[in-house]
Amino acid sequence: MQEQYSVAQYVDDLRRITAETVDENEIFDQVGPLAKRLASEDSWIEERFYNPDEETGFSAFLLHEEEDHSLAVLAATWIPGMGVGPHDHGTWAVVVGVEGVERNIRYKRLDDRSKPDYAELEVKDESTAGPGDLVCIRNGGIHAVRNDSDKVTLSLHTYGTHINHTIRSKYDIEAHTAAEFKVDVK
Ligand SMILES: [Fe+2]
Repeated sequence: MQEQYSVAQYVDDLRRITAETVDENEIFDQVGPLAKRLASEDSWIEERFYNPDEETGFSAFLLHEEEDHSLAVLAATWIPGMGVGPHDHGTWAVVVGVEGVERNIRYKRLDDRSKPDYAELEVKDESTAGPGDLVCIRNGGIHAVRNDSDKVTLSLHTYGTHINHTIRSKYDIEAHTAAEFKVDVK
């Protein structure tokens, strides 16, 4: 049997890996398997994680954040039928499914970014992430997430910088707009 793996051990590994490299491919290669390992543990999961905010359909629970807001680890939940439209994070992200199935849509940006507040996107690909499935999103990568299942989803998110403290955008694919996107995830 595999030894238990705690949030504290995961954070130690994140510190070591990100001290050694800033290359996103290397971070994803190294952090991905560890995030999957932590996601397979139930030691960090609390009952309250399964009660997302009824109004927004979403809640996030902070498991760790460094003092400078780097290396944020969160548990995120979605109510069935709820999700978030196209957005970026302003940092890298490693997400692993824990419960339920989340649909992930990735977008390609077609315009040259020369016009402020304007963005042309097209769908690059769509996938579903269930328990143990890994989704790595580059800094600047644009995606949307939706819980298309009939139960609350839970996933484990790791960000290079806590998303309350990054400059990020949300996009309207039909109106071709990009707008700064502030969140206040607890
Ligand atoms: Fe996201």
